[in-house]
Amino acid sequence: PAPAYICAPMLDAAQDTPTNRPDLPPEIARRRTFAIISHPDAGKTTLTEKFLLYGGAIQMAGQVRAKGEARRTRSDFMQMEKDRGISVSASAMSFDFAGPGMQYRFNLVDTPGHSDFSEDTYRTLTAVDAAIMVIDGAKGVESQTQKLFEVCRLRDLPILTFCNKMDRESRDTFEIIDEIQENLAIDVTPASWPIGVGRDFLGCYDLIHDRLELMDRADRNKVAESVKMEGLDDPRLDDHIPADLLEKLREEVEMARELLPAMNRQSFLEGHLTPIWFGSAINSFGVKELMDGIAEYGPQPQVQTAEPREVAPEEKKVAGFVFKVQANMDPKHRDRVAFVRLASGHFQRGMKLTHVRSKKPMAIANPVMFLASDRELAEEAWAGDIIGIPNHGQLRIGDALTEGEALRFTGIPSFAPELLQSCRAGDPMKAKHLDKALMQFAEEGAAKVFKPNIGSGFIVGVVGALQFEVLASRIEMEYGLPVRFEASQFTSARWVHGGKEAVDAFMAANKSHMATDNDGDPVYLTRMQWDIDRIERDYPDVTLSATKELM
Ligand code: G4P
Repeated sequence: PAPAYICAPMLDAAQDTPTNRPDLPPEIARRRTFAIISHPDAGKTTLTEKFLLYGGAIQMAGQVRAKGEARRTRSDFMQMEKDRGISVSASAMSFDFAGPGMQYRFNLVDTPGHSDFSEDTYRTLTAVDAAIMVIDGAKGVESQTQKLFEVCRLRDLPILTFCNKMDRESRDTFEIIDEIQENLAIDVTPASWPIGVGRDFLGCYDLIHDRLELMDRADRNKVAESVKMEGLDDPRLDDHIPADLLEKLREEVEMARELLPAMNRQSFLEGHLTPIWFGSAINSFGVKELMDGIAEYGPQPQVQTAEPREVAPEEKKVAGFVFKVQANMDPKHRDRVAFVRLASGHFQRGMKLTHVRSKKPMAIANPVMFLASDRELAEEAWAGDIIGIPNHGQLRIGDALTEGEALRFTGIPSFAPELLQSCRAGDPMKAKHLDKALMQFAEEGAAKVFKPNIGSGFIVGVVGALQFEVLASRIEMEYGLPVRFEASQFTSARWVHGGKEAVDAFMAANKSHMATDNDGDPVYLTRMQWDIDRIERDYPDVTLSATKELM
């Protein structure tokens, strides 16, 4: 029989060890830590649900739906903020998956769906080794997909693509692939090829394993029927596919072979090439193949960048960093959960780790891991895992936990807020409490808080307007403190960097524009880009930056 499409090279490539790194211990090598990026409505929630279903973490479809936040209205969002336990447990989910050859452990980290919370999303992506990009087969690459993709690119994250909703009228396969290649400037290699469109969609030909996958429209939770083939000339294909569709399939795959690159694992791992699967999440179709893809191509937990040295997953000592902090659901306690990505080692409950920023030891007595519907104590965890550490505010975004070494994980960005408003307590007697409340949210990464060096009150900066409302509602709910957000005289904030003398001189000359952020770092506030340009000209020894890397 004629050779199948790119089957052999794909498998060869999958078995390559692309780097000269040592083999990881099996417990670490079986871990896959990833996020799903998509435009709202493309099917992220549905896909997540099917993942959990195959992972055995839930019994029934429908359990995750209640947690999907992408399509929530504003009032739903407020309600969800009240039910914070839910959003906490949906932040990172772990489940096992019986993949090719072994049992894998998948850690799926949730990216907030609402575009107003993109900063949180950026940080989340620092904690994963790969991303799944879900696109709607009829809509192609949409705005939010594009934005999130750009963030993945900043980190050269490997991307697996899932083209969803193939059971409905969708675009031509080549058109979809072209659009991804052109809009996102990434090469695309088909891992499967769809047969028929819309009502006539039958399933896919799996180009990696030479299998025909047939969709069952009657049972949405059933795994597709899979028939092993000897390539596209296998006569048994006639038994399953009408002649016209089969001819089209053969023609298209032939064309794809000429026009599209074959799978190359190195190129995938460097973020230059994405394999694409076609499927229908709601019909559970293509999901298993995508999961097999994550298992086979990985990547395994990666080396993390840090100062003064990188941290490799196989290192014996435990090290990790906080990428997200979330206040707990009980407003009477100021408990928070810090989400930590373990960068190395084998963590065991009760371990004493050093909190690098304060140089203090911290006994990690009650770490939690999140299964689909509830959380449980994490007795142990390995490099690649995400654990939640309940704490009273000691742990902040960007913090490192180690077995003593003074490491600083790099690349966790803090963005310049795009919107500034001043914030006042409704009751002036309670201004002190406001200080505390705002500091908490600043530490959570929910807002930037600036205290002007002259005058009173606070200036709060956020990335999306909805955040002001959420903040006001949380401050009232969690601190019993009504607050007012009002237009501020400033519209931009810039962090001031430079030698001490230069910065001091600059600050003295611009007193009315200066403020201090919640870490005590100087910030320049202005309403005019012109001011920023002028400073760059007049103070060559001072830099104003729109972002600040968190320590
Ligand atoms: P999101 O998290 O990315 O926002 O998307 P979500 O999974 O919530 O899916 C958005 C809509 O698309 C839902 O329909 C969902 O049922 C539908 N959907 C997901 N996957 C597929 C698919 O493979 N094929 C088809 N035809 N539809 C799909 P909805 O009507 O908005 O919600 P619901 O009434 O189904 O709950």
